[in-house]
Amino acid sequence: MSLLEVKNLVVEFPGRRGTLRALDDISFSIAPGEILGVVGESGAGKSLTGAAIIGLLEPPGRVASGQILLEGQRIDNLNSDQMRSIRGRRIGAIFQDPLTSLNPLYTVGRQLTETILAHLPVSAAEARQRAIALLQDTGIPAAAERIDHYPHQFSGGMRQRVVIALALAAEPKLIVADEPTTALDVSIQAQIITLLKNICKSRGAAVMLITHDMGVIAETCDRVAVLYAGRVAEIGPVHDVINKPSHPYTSGLMASIPDMAVDRERLNQIDGAMPRLNAIPKGCAYNPRCPKTFDRCMVDRPELMPAGSTRAACWLHAPATTEVSA
Ligand SMILES: Nc1ncnc2c1ncn2[C@@H]1O[C@H](COP(=O)(O)OP(=O)(O)O)[C@@H](O)[C@H]1O
Ligand code: SF4
Ligand SMILES: [Mg+2]
Repeated sequence: MSLLEVKNLVVEFPGRRGTLRALDDISFSIAPGEILGVVGESGAGKSLTGAAIIGLLEPPGRVASGQILLEGQRIDNLNSDQMRSIRGRRIGAIFQDPLTSLNPLYTVGRQLTETILAHLPVSAAEARQRAIALLQDTGIPAAAERIDHYPHQFSGGMRQRVVIALALAAEPKLIVADEPTTALDVSIQAQIITLLKNICKSRGAAVMLITHDMGVIAETCDRVAVLYAGRVAEIGPVHDVINKPSHPYTSGLMASIPDMAVDRERLNQIDGAMPRLNAIPKGCAYNPRCPKTFDRCMVDRPELMPAGSTRAACWLHAPATTEVSA
């Protein structure tokens, strides 16, 4: 069984000028222990997907339809108390800025032990031992002393290590990490991503890793979902999506990765911009930018369909027998 299943998720923002549909029919699953990357340009819907899963959509944003299931149980229709308990115990969250997860007024040890005591049946002394071990495992030197320090006494990278420890404190089965290294110094980003990968793999925790960086996806993930304009453009094993992309948008993203071996003057960028939510074109949302667009792309919206070893929402992969609708 999937650990997490997202089925036909629609997230909307009702407003005075009508309702904006920010996520439109998103479906994917995450297996136990798997690392799923979620990638796409800014505004593609990555953070909203994560927020919907952890129950932190900001009103008036709401799940308008679809389902989110954790170990087979629906979690999209729980009240805020129920969702808070799931967030602590069964889903850990890591955000771009470590300070959003840490309380500046409490030592990191207090925050870790409170989380452990709230969710696991251990004594206060055991909780402290576990907290020290977690800090050690996340690479905090002199953890037994550092546990009594406050968040501001840690560097940015060390702070994000503390956040990873905190997210893992209640031994969740799933970690949702939204751009966990984007705010950090470039020189330490790879270390933190490697830590996140290794520590989650060793504990059997699955990860939904949201990033705009295909390089991070390539090095870290088992599978990847490529989002475009609030929809899944392509999803599949990371090796296949990267080496043999089936959706023209994925190909465009891949071409935009800087290739250190080649001395390029500037990065290849995909021409044009992602459409605004109130101006998503009919048919395929990617059609204004797509170099391979043809008649049907202007008319019919493509659903995910088998495309080589991945699945892509692109009419190039429609079975030959399918009639083109007029
Ligand atoms: N509070 C909000 N009100 C209206 N639209 C929003 C709100 N939050 C996000 N959106 C829209 O939803 C889309 C997806 O946002 P987001 O998930 O944050 O993208 P990203 O992939 O960069 O994380 C964006 O087009 C954004 O404008
Ligand atoms: S459906 Fe058409 S426009 Fe959309 S990505 Fe495929 S070829 Fe391009
Ligand atoms: Mg985001």
